Amino acid sequence: MSIYFTEKGSAETVNRCIGRGATPRARQVIASLVRHLHDFVKDVELTQDEWEKAIDFLTRTGHVCTETRQEFILLSDVLGVSMLVDAIGNRRPEGATENTVLGPFHVADAPIRAMGDSISLDGKGESCLFHGRVVDLDGQPIEGATIDVWSDNADGFYDVQQPGIQPQWNNRGRFVTGADGVYSFVGIKPVSYPIPDDGPVGDLLATLDRHPYRPAHMHFLVTAPRHNKIVTHIFTSGDAYLGSDTVFGVKSSLIADFRRIDGATLWQADFDFVMIAEGAGNRR
Ligand code: BEZ
Ligand code: FE
Repeated sequence: MSIYFTEKGSAETVNRCIGRGATPRARQVIASLVRHLHDFVKDVELTQDEWEKAIDFLTRTGHVCTETRQEFILLSDVLGVSMLVDAIGNRRPEGATENTVLGPFHVADAPIRAMGDSISLDGKGESCLFHGRVVDLDGQPIEGATIDVWSDNADGFYDVQQPGIQPQWNNRGRFVTGADGVYSFVGIKPVSYPIPDDGPVGDLLATLDRHPYRPAHMHFLVTAPRHNKIVTHIFTSGDAYLGSDTVFGVKSSLIADFRRIDGATLWQADFDFVMIAEGAGNRR
């Protein structure tokens, strides 16, 4: 094979340049990336014009990134890559609660609230009681588990998207379980909302004739000493976007039944979180 660049041997020519100093993992990852990239370019016979559009797209994606906006992660989300990396990194035994994407709207150190408290500070939306237990694979309650929760408000925005409009920490809070492992709090029945679609990722969705919506969900980050953390959501059954979540975050085990209680003024969703011991996951 020629040592010079040819269409046929393109990837091998590039990968032959990786030096001895590269770590085995860097060599494996980048060589595979080059092979797949070159295969892709050959598969679609990418034109110069399309290559320029791709460069412009990536440049714009970088330019809209700020402290509070990460357009590259959003791009990874809508291409299903975030969910794939999450799936590979969080293989769990049957019965354990499944993971899904964290998303860009988690804020660390939300207020610790008392069990049963409300996280809804703006008075909007339909009240909903979230209730369940944090248990291990044997069904034993986990004491001292922290349940960090967050959701959009009834208008479909997180508090951090509307500073000065929504109260800080609206629809957020942390709850710590006692010996019975039980948690409960009042939030709102979640509503579906579009991901930020005023940038290049929104343009991509429009080009592909895809909508930007996520089905209604409540976010949960569950941590407990000596257990693997769970990053997940509870989705509301019956949501119109369950089958077409723009970031592919839905798993059937995470769809909860939301039912009306208390003379129909309050909703309730019951969901138990099943944690696995540290290091017990990620078997194929
Ligand atoms: C979210 O659910 O908050 C979210 C996840 C991925 C992208 C955008 C938003
Ligand atoms: Fe969300």
